[in-house]
Amino acid sequence: MKQKESLVSEVGCLRGDLQQVREDRDRQLLQVQALTAEVVKYKEWTGKYVAELDHLTLKSNDLEARCSSQSEQIRTLRDQLSVADKKLQMTDLSAMETRTVFEEQTKLIDDLQSRLAIAEVKINEGEELRRKLHNTILELKGNIRVFCRVRPLLSDEDLGKEPKVYSYPTTAETLGRGIDVIQNGQKSYFTFDKVFMPDAAQENVFVEISQLVQSALDGYKVCIFAYGQTGSGKTYTMMGRPGSSTEKGLIPRSLEQIFQTRQSLQSQGWKYEMQVSMLEIYNETIRDLLSTSQSCSDVSRTESGVAGKQYAIKHDANGNTHVSDLTIVDVRSSREVSFLLDQAARSRSVGKTQMNEQSSRSHFVFTLRISGANESTEQQVQGVLNLIDLAGSERLSKSGATGDRLKETQAINKSLSSLSDVIFALAKKEDHVPFRNSKLTYLLQPCLGGDSKTLMFVNVSPEPSSVGESLCSLRFAARVNACEIGIPRRQTNVRPSDSRLSYG
Ligand SMILES: Nc1ncnc2c1ncn2[C@@H]1O[C@H](COP(=O)(O)OP(=O)(O)OP(=O)(O)O)[C@@H](O)[C@H]1O
Ligand SMILES: [Mg+2]
Repeated sequence: MKQKESLVSEVGCLRGDLQQVREDRDRQLLQVQALTAEVVKYKEWTGKYVAELDHLTLKSNDLEARCSSQSEQIRTLRDQLSVADKKLQMTDLSAMETRTVFEEQTKLIDDLQSRLAIAEVKINEGEELRRKLHNTILELKGNIRVFCRVRPLLSDEDLGKEPKVYSYPTTAETLGRGIDVIQNGQKSYFTFDKVFMPDAAQENVFVEISQLVQSALDGYKVCIFAYGQTGSGKTYTMMGRPGSSTEKGLIPRSLEQIFQTRQSLQSQGWKYEMQVSMLEIYNETIRDLLSTSQSCSDVSRTESGVAGKQYAIKHDANGNTHVSDLTIVDVRSSREVSFLLDQAARSRSVGKTQMNEQSSRSHFVFTLRISGANESTEQQVQGVLNLIDLAGSERLSKSGATGDRLKETQAINKSLSSLSDVIFALAKKEDHVPFRNSKLTYLLQPCLGGDSKTLMFVNVSPEPSSVGESLCSLRFAARVNACEIGIPRRQTNVRPSDSRLSYG
């Protein structure tokens, strides 16, 4: 029994042990499970780390490769840099040399420029002196001066296949003064006091007459007129386009200069009074272009002039010309004169011909009377400036004129032929000069046969088809150039030693 009890207690102990063992086993099973899950997790991580390691290894390989290639590049760049450094040093050297050369050349240029400026001043002074001496010689010779101007081809004109008609000799004695004309293979040579080629600007032309204009302020009678075939550029030369600074002609430029000089002479005590008159000779009739009673164009166009007005031309003992009943306006500024010129231009007889869209059908005479007095020296001077734009000569066969235009053309040609008769008689020094044969020549008598300073522009067209007329004009001009009209005389009561004596 005792044994059975010990066995039962042993069994009980063993059961307790078994229970203990079971519990241990369960616990360890749980532990195994947890460890297995951990192993799985570690395996996963290991897989991830292995992949990452692979990736990093690749990356590192790549970076190593790049690093070595960049090291290579750095080496090459270093080499290049050292070459460039060397080059830079050389360039620096040559830049320094270049700078020295540049500075030397700048100095040289500065030097040359200042020498050029001095030479230009000298040339201008020389040119001024040449002009003065030339004018003095002409004055002493007492001839009518002649300037020739060849106008440029107009946009609608074309030389075509025709050979050039004009050439300009360049020898020392004819430079700027000669013109050669070829007609039918024959060459004619002319020399005048000045020849303006087609590219001469209005200003270049004015420069050559400015001293002559100036001398009207010194008490000379000055007469400038433009002669030439219709459409050859007379009106352009004399009047141009008054509103345009480059294209205004001799008349507006002369007036601007006269009023400017008047202003500057005030400081020397000179006071000037100026009077303007403007007339045209249309079909042998004088028309007053400033008359207010002629505002109606029908009246102004009548051939007998305005009723009751005589417009008789008279010359006094001093060679001063008066036209009776002519409107004379006192003027104080070039603006006032421009206004009057505008007024006159509107009443001037202009018509369209085959040769010229805006042909002057009358002779236009602008007269500025100048009387000056110097209060401090009690000197007095009286000058006259006549600026004349003649109507153009025209071959009836070429102009195709009929009716009124034909009559105008005939009147124009007649008065121009009277002008050439006068010139021929003067050139031959004949006793009788037929000044009275036309209104134009009678009006111009003191300029052509007196003691005035007279200058004629002979205008010619560049068109080969006009070469015949151009030659006639040039031959006439050569005759005019040969005319001696006496030595210009000043109208003044001052002593001849007056320092303001002009050679214009
Ligand atoms: N030097 C020049 N430069 C540019 N154009 C010019 C020049 N000379 C003349 N012309 C042009 O030629 C044309 C004829 O000139 P203009 O009217 O002066 O001739 P004209 O000799 O007065 O003729 P007419 O006897 O018929 O009055 C005009 O259209 C004018 O503008
Ligand atoms: Mg004209």
